[in-house]
Amino acid sequence: GDVAVLVPAAGAGVRLGPGAPKALRPLAGEPLLVHAVRRVAAAPSVHTIVVAAPATDVEAVRAMLAPVAPVTVVPGGAERQESVAAALAAVPAGPEIVLVHDAARALTPPDLVESVAAAIRDGHDAVIPVLPVVDTIKEVDAAERVLGTVDRSALRAVQTPQGFRRSVLVAAHRCAGDALTDDAGLVEKQGIAVTCVPGSELALKITRPFDLSLAEHLLSTGA
Ligand code: CTP
Ligand code: MG
Repeated sequence: GDVAVLVPAAGAGVRLGPGAPKALRPLAGEPLLVHAVRRVAAAPSVHTIVVAAPATDVEAVRAMLAPVAPVTVVPGGAERQESVAAALAAVPAGPEIVLVHDAARALTPPDLVESVAAAIRDGHDAVIPVLPVVDTIKEVDAAERVLGTVDRSALRAVQTPQGFRRSVLVAAHRCAGDALTDDAGLVEKQGIAVTCVPGSELALKITRPFDLSLAEHLLSTGA
């Protein structure tokens, strides 16, 4: 394997409602993070996995993941970007492809990990998995008045894992300013081309209670 995968898992899960940090909440009897790491580890290209855990749960997460796959666990930060930076700093010498994933995308198929890594291997600096946007999108003002309709055909919903040539991701994080919601955004700011590959509906981000119910259902039908 020539790939390191960073798995930020230090978020609270506010939108999921009160409870444990989201990555530690159960999905079909196992924590979301266990599902996510198991699928990442099943991708043949993966050499190294680094998880950024909630700072108070680092030891518990190490114990939880030990039977699942060999992983390095570091404390995450207050923002996702800080958690990614902490995980990136823990990647050993070797892997020249780095993927940044979300623990919350717990059902992401190993095939998607492989296809993102393959596109980097093919020579792209930065690769993101995307899906078409299905809803009509309106731009609104502060009073919720419609300003206009956005051309949906030119829009994409972005998933993880996002893949990078290691040096590109390291440079982007060195220059990171305002917190963005994804790593490709940092790379775009460096003026580096970002390429899209087809995403997967199974890579949905478990964000709200509805998503957790959907994931439970997908697992019960064999996902
Ligand atoms: N994440 C992280 N460190 C943070 C915030 C988020 O590692 N300080 C991780 C989450 O654990 C998750 C991923 O980034 O795997 C995507 O974030 P999101 O879906 O927003 O999760 P949460 O931040 O936990 O949820 P919420 O925003 O509803 O609190
Ligand atoms: Mg969040």
